[in-house]
Amino acid sequence: VKLNIRKGRLGKSMTDDAAEFTSSLEFDKYLFEADIKCNFAHTLMLKEEKIIDEKIADKILGALIQLEEEGYESLEFDHSVEDIHMAVENYVTDLIGSDAGFMHTAKSRNDQVATDIRLALRKKVLELEKAILEFIKELLDLASEHTETIFVGYTHLQHAQPLTFGHHLMAYAQSLKRDYQRLKDTYKRINLNPLGSAAMATTTFPINRELTTKLLGFDEYLENSMDGVSARDFIGETVFDLSMLSSNLSKMAEEMILWSSYEFRLVEIGDDFSSTSSIMPQKKNPDVAEIARAKSTIASGELFTILSILKAIPFTYNRDLQEITPHLWNAYENTYDVLKIMTSMISSIKFNKERALYLANRNFATATDLADLIVKEKSIPFRIAHKIVGRVVSEAIGGDVDIKDIDTEFIDKIAEELDIDNLGLDDDLIQNALDPVLNVKLRKVPGGPAPEMVKIAIKHLNDFISDE
Ligand code: ARG
Repeated sequence: VKLNIRKGRLGKSMTDDAAEFTSSLEFDKYLFEADIKCNFAHTLMLKEEKIIDEKIADKILGALIQLEEEGYESLEFDHSVEDIHMAVENYVTDLIGSDAGFMHTAKSRNDQVATDIRLALRKKVLELEKAILEFIKELLDLASEHTETIFVGYTHLQHAQPLTFGHHLMAYAQSLKRDYQRLKDTYKRINLNPLGSAAMATTTFPINRELTTKLLGFDEYLENSMDGVSARDFIGETVFDLSMLSSNLSKMAEEMILWSSYEFRLVEIGDDFSSTSSIMPQKKNPDVAEIARAKSTIASGELFTILSILKAIPFTYNRDLQEITPHLWNAYENTYDVLKIMTSMISSIKFNKERALYLANRNFATATDLADLIVKEKSIPFRIAHKIVGRVVSEAIGGDVDIKDIDTEFIDKIAEELDIDNLGLDDDLIQNALDPVLNVKLRKVPGGPAPEMVKIAIKHLNDFISDE
């Protein structure tokens, strides 16, 4: 006999529509393996503690092993089946008869689902962590090729100061390192055992929570049964981590899109990550990066939904909780997909060094260093030097003067207008300050773009990865 859990208390089954409306089966496939594990550990514990008959326990355990081998497809889902937990119990019942019902002693679907989600999620989080490290590795390799590649950095999307492309890639890598660490930290709060909370108030059976905790590989059990069945903060936290990771990935996608435009021409994305137009034959479009940028939004949308569901439900289990899980999986799958495709897309890029150097030599990205030179050579306060150089730049732009033609005479004329007596800077020093290549080499403060510092940063991150 398959169990229809509604027949005891209720005179009628749900209408088909209501059953479908409340079913979690569509997303419960994520919980299949975890549900078997959870039942297995619980039954083993019931056996060890002599709460249920040893032979019956063995039959249940055997049936669970068989189900694991046969896989999800062997489950039957008809209208009487509300969720994966019922489907699994029905499967065991089909095999061994009504003794299967002993499996549910001292357990509720409330603690079971909470346990299942944690088991399934921790596996997913580990996969994601691994994928992040692979992306970082890819970025480190690429950055090593570009420690000397001059490139102009932007603030407000305006030329700011010269750096190297390697330094920029390392900025990506550092953000991913934190995304990785954040997930690792969250893992500590995922890996806690709610099993034994039962419906919300534990049980009078002498269950052994230490044992199920150990069997399921949890770090410890949750010490309040009400909290055990209702806590979903670990989901909110994970989805925040996914949102932050997505946001970082999205910025990278955006830069690839921008830099591969004709106007920038800094990056050429691999043809195998681009598409063309059905009408404009010349087109090479960064569609993969665009889809990645759009899909990067999903996690934060899901986060908002999850937090909104969570905030208004009273303790303890409410069916609303079931509606949280699909959003978790959707956030996860999309983020994981974006991460994987970004890893391969970024490794397909060719960076246009000549173009980057050309741009770094235009538009006065080295002006800060000319101001610094005045401070260093003439002991003039930086604010005044800043003003002199600001005027130098605007005069040069107005008079169409090339950066190469800025000399001491040009600067002194402007300084004089600002009532500063002739500075008499050395022409070579001026040109050195304005040279993006030298300029970058001199920024050898820790965390700076000088090739030697970027190499150190690459080494540190490589060491970090090897230790993980
Ligand atoms: N499908 C349910 C969920 O995902 C399992 C727990 C059902 N519990 C209950 N009391 N109806 O939350």
